[in-house]
Amino acid sequence: MTIQFELNGQLVSADTMPGTTLLEYLRSEELYSVKHGCDHGECGACAVLINSKAVNACLILMHTIEGKKIETLESLSNHEHLHPIQETFLRAGAVQCGFCTPGMLLSVEALDREEGEITEESVKDALNGNLCRCTGYVKPVDAALKVLQKNKDEEVQS
Ligand code: FES
Ligand code: FES
Repeated sequence: MTIQFELNGQLVSADTMPGTTLLEYLRSEELYSVKHGCDHGECGACAVLINSKAVNACLILMHTIEGKKIETLESLSNHEHLHPIQETFLRAGAVQCGFCTPGMLLSVEALDREEGEITEESVKDALNGNLCRCTGYVKPVDAALKVLQKNKDEEVQS
């Protein structure tokens, strides 16, 4: 089965077996920011952006992504510069073991792309599906609020 889609800005044709999940495919392509956690849609460690929405890749079968735009954390940063969301999380001490971090960062990026006001509630809702065993969520929520409110302020001024 051949599927065509956009992956991190590149058009891709993938030959996959029926039943292959997007998580399995992405890790086979060495996109290791996409973590293999619960495999049941419960932890958010495998979150990616599909058409700018945060989605758990372990629940997505490859045949359903035909024509869609897939982004992993690898597309947000390069090896020389951190993305502002990454930078803010690091400075805020919102990263400990880091296993949940790629999924959290993409959930924050998805919220950033939405219209509407950024509030503590909207940030908590966005991070609701990202389980973290280490941080207790206070620092990730604070970091996300800080970077998202800064981005919205810059949008208003531009
Ligand atoms: S590995 Fe996909 S939600 Fe946990
Ligand atoms: S930082 Fe360790 S699971 Fe979140």
